[in-house]
Parts: sequence; structure tokens; C-alpha cells
Amino acid sequence: MSVGTAARAEPPGDPTAVKEVDGKFFDKNGDPTYKVQDDGTVDWYTFSGYRRYHAECHVCHGPNAEGSTYAPALKNSVKNFNYAEFYGIVVSGRENKVAGNDSVMPAFADNKNAMCYIDDLYIYLRARSTEAVGRGRPEKKAAKPATFTEAEAKCMSGN
Ligand code: HEC
Repeated sequence: MSVGTAARAEPPGDPTAVKEVDGKFFDKNGDPTYKVQDDGTVDWYTFSGYRRYHAECHVCHGPNAEGSTYAPALKNSVKNFNYAEFYGIVVSGRENKVAGNDSVMPAFADNKNAMCYIDDLYIYLRARSTEAVGRGRPEKKAAKPATFTEAEAKCMSGN
């Protein structure tokens, strides 16, 4: 690696779900991933991530994770780095000075509307990265798991 090149994390690898825990899916590395049934029904977390993305991220990153003139297309970004790096960028933010222009990804560490749904966001973006989920709101979704409701209440009320 040459001097000045940012350290790159490993790409996330195969997004195929190999494990399910209470309606949440994981790939072979144990990272959160999506599952779309043959009839197009998406898992609850993909749907939740769709909603959170379009509440917290789309103003800069564009609708459907397709990017804007201001911020990169996250449907492509998540092909390049794994869950841990994604998590790190969202928590801490990032600043990049390009030819005198500041490009700033804000830190979301204190924003529960993002942090309580970080897996959901990653799962939705992964589903967009392979086009397993198309543009717009997924039409059919799995029921909301009870464990999701419990974790959400706990996280939003401050652990
Ligand atoms: C105020 C605008 C803004 C918002 C809101 C925002 N971002 Fe960003 N984000 C940026 C910019 C600008 C960059 C590029 C930063 C750079 O050049 O290093 C970026 C970069 C990123 C990257 C790295 C992408 C790459 O290809 O290297 C990730 C991941 C990311 N944002 C995730 C998110 C998520 C998830 C949300 C919603 C919770 C979000 N961002 C909300 C502006 C924003």
C-alpha cells in the first residue's frame, strides 16, 4: 500500500443469508444481510432500513441509495467495505478535503434515529447493492419480529 492511501477494509463478500435469528439474517461471516423470498417479500430489517435510510440519509446520499452530486451512492459503497467499516464511518463521520472543497459525512453517534437502526440501514443498502431490492418502497414485507420491537424500545429509551 502506498503512502497516503487510506487503509481499506475487506470487502463484505457473499451477501447470501445462511442463518436466521428471529427474522434477522446473517451471511457466512456473521454480518447482517437481507433475505428476499421468491414472491418478493423482504425481511423486516430490509424494510425498516428502507424507511430509516429515507429519513436520515437520503437528503445527502440521494433516494434509493443512488447518490447525489454531494455524497456517494451507498449502494455501491457497501460493495467495497464490510459491516465494521460501515459502522465506524456512520458513528464517527468522515471529512475529506478535495481541492479545497470540504466533503463532510456527519457523525451519527448521538443520533438514535440512525444508531438504533444501524443494522437495518446496512441490510437495506446491501439489498440495494445487488438489486435484490429495487427502487422505492418494498411492496411486501415480513411481519415485525417481537425481538425488533423490544430492542427498539430499549435503544430509543437510552439503553
Ligand atoms: C449532511 C449530509 C450527509 C448525511 C445526512 C449523511 N451522509 Fe454519509 N456521507 C456524506 C458525504 C459528503 C460523504 C463523503 C465523505 C467523504 O468524502 O469522505 C459521506 C460518506 C458516507 C459513507 C462512506 C461512503 C464511501 O463510499 O466511502 C458512508 C458509509 C455513509 N456516508 C453513510 C451514511 C448513512 C448510513 C447515513 C444516514 C444515517 C448518512 N451517511 C447520512 C454526507 C452525508
